[in-house]
Amino acid sequence: WSSTAHKRDGDLVVGGVAVADLVAEHNTPAYVLDEDDFRARARAFRDGFADYDVYYAAKAFLCTAVAGWVAEEGLHLDVCSDGELTVALRAGVDPSRIGYHGNNKSHPELRRAVAAGVGRIVVDSFAEIERLAQVSADLGTTQAVMVRVTAGVEAHTHEYIATAHEDQKFGFSITSGDALEAVRRVLAAPGLDLRGLHSHIGSQIFDSSGFEVAARRVLRLHAQVADPEAGPGVTMPEMDLGGGFGIAYTTQDDPTEPAQLAAEMTSIVAHECRALGLEAPRLSIEPGRAIVGPSMCTVYTVGTVKAVALDGGAVRTYVSVDGGMSDNIRTALYDADYSCTIAARASSAPPVLARVVGKHCEAGDIVVRDEFLPGDVAPGDLLAVPATGAYCRSMASNYNHALRPPVIAVRDGAARTLLRRETVDDLLATDVGV
Ligand code: LLP
Repeated sequence: WSSTAHKRDGDLVVGGVAVADLVAEHNTPAYVLDEDDFRARARAFRDGFADYDVYYAAKAFLCTAVAGWVAEEGLHLDVCSDGELTVALRAGVDPSRIGYHGNNKSHPELRRAVAAGVGRIVVDSFAEIERLAQVSADLGTTQAVMVRVTAGVEAHTHEYIATAHEDQKFGFSITSGDALEAVRRVLAAPGLDLRGLHSHIGSQIFDSSGFEVAARRVLRLHAQVADPEAGPGVTMPEMDLGGGFGIAYTTQDDPTEPAQLAAEMTSIVAHECRALGLEAPRLSIEPGRAIVGPSMCTVYTVGTVKAVALDGGAVRTYVSVDGGMSDNIRTALYDADYSCTIAARASSAPPVLARVVGKHCEAGDIVVRDEFLPGDVAPGDLLAVPATGAYCRSMASNYNHALRPPVIAVRDGAARTLLRRETVDDLLATDVGV
């Protein structure tokens, strides 16, 4: 839950606004974003990682207002598409504070990014290095570049969100020598300014040993690049260690505070730099989930309740809500764990084992796999799912022609719409008809 969320006689209140009142105005499903909580988390990273540049990873969630908050709180912004870049620029984010990612940026996308003056582009393939060199030559400019490397780390997270093992699409392998070759090619391109190496090992990570191994391997390559005997002999001023800091989805998870993370990462890097006889590069990180994840919750209305007998005589209560995998694909896609609570009344009914499911035409359309809910849960109840800020709205779809829910920001007892609910007209706008 976000820090201002609490229950008042069974009524969930976020940012000083009763969720029931929000629903009366905005209906469900709806995402509720706690602005103070978001800003506080952004500041905790900025202050905890005071000697770093902190890039908020827009892919976790972005809209114009949020891009503005990120800038106001003194963070940089990491984008990975033309769409994200457009929103950032529309919000007035200083382009020099934007980093641009992606494993397949097209020539036009690179051209727009360079023309906009983005602070750095993280290159991910030999083809892209050539493309980008061409673009900066055409525009007569010099573009700052980071080289994305694969640290060869098995991060302990879901396979689809681990990104630093060898057999996946991101980055240049350090082990194969591609990473060093990429560095050489960037150095050889007149319009490219090599700033440093970039590594992102995966997402929803709790165990800092993955970061430690990655930092060590990337620093070793950094040292090799600086060494005129073993490499080109160029000292790169920066290094990015990516995002991936885990958050609590349920009470089982125990995330580390940003200041503690910073202390651990800084000491790992300092230790390794001493061992290698290097001056530490300026570090940056790219947290997305750890900033926006806990700041949002999703509110649904229960539509049907069905008791299903399980083998062995137990019963599971299927609680169907008015959204589902179209507004939160994470349970279906990553087997993610969520929890939930009834949001607008107290109940003393004995708990039942419930599964919260959506309204889509798929058995895998599960929002919360297992939760104990009061046995009197009934149609019309409001249900709130915490920690849906990251990768829920940003990965939402129109599956079954669902209308993507609004994002309502709450703060000091007031609510304002950041993204409105989609309408059928929005859907029909792209359908050219017969
Ligand atoms: N930097 C890079 C280069 C990334 O690829 C990502 C996430 C981040 C930073 C931010 O990671 P975070 O701090 O948010 O974990 N859709 C998945 C997560 C995919 C993450 C993709 N890259 C999910 O819902 O768990």
